Amino acid sequence: MLERTFVYLKPDAVRRGLVGEIIKRFEGRGLKLVALKMKRMTREEAEELYKEHRGKSFFQKLVDFVTSSPVILMVLEGPSAVKVVRHTVGATDPLEAAPGSIRGDFGVNVTKNLIHASDSVESAQREMSIFFRDMEIEDYPLPIEKDLVLEG
Ligand code: RTP
Ligand code: MG
Repeated sequence: MLERTFVYLKPDAVRRGLVGEIIKRFEGRGLKLVALKMKRMTREEAEELYKEHRGKSFFQKLVDFVTSSPVILMVLEGPSAVKVVRHTVGATDPLEAAPGSIRGDFGVNVTKNLIHASDSVESAQREMSIFFRDMEIEDYPLPIEKDLVLEG
């Protein structure tokens, strides 16, 4: 199933110079970058993105952190992209994330966990629409696509 998912690299990933390393992992996994930009997230955008967590103890700390310096926003496309990306990213708490996953290899703690990835196709659609207009998401062929189908 060809899916699109929304990912962004949090301020710690940008400040630590891990942008290339992280994007390389997604490219290596065969995911297609279909949108990409850097921006400083506004508080309004962060509160909208994380609205399911409003009222939780970590909400303000999370919003403060993700708005503290620029982030890298992207949309990735591929077969079962939501699951493939979540697996590549690893568990929320870097102390629980498997070695070899992005958070398992580079994450520091549950706030400074480097990256966000949508947890479903529906969340992905909602989240990417906060940051990207439809016309900013590109459509182009990836020659390796035929080698990436999950079955057959
Ligand atoms: P994400 O949405 O960021 O891809 O990660 P996730 O699904 O694994 O985590 P989620 O439960 O949706 O939480 C969103 C972000 O909130 C921060 N968080 N802090 N106890 C805490 O201090 C706490 N719990 C969650 C994390 O930065 C997490 O990525
Ligand atoms: Mg989440």
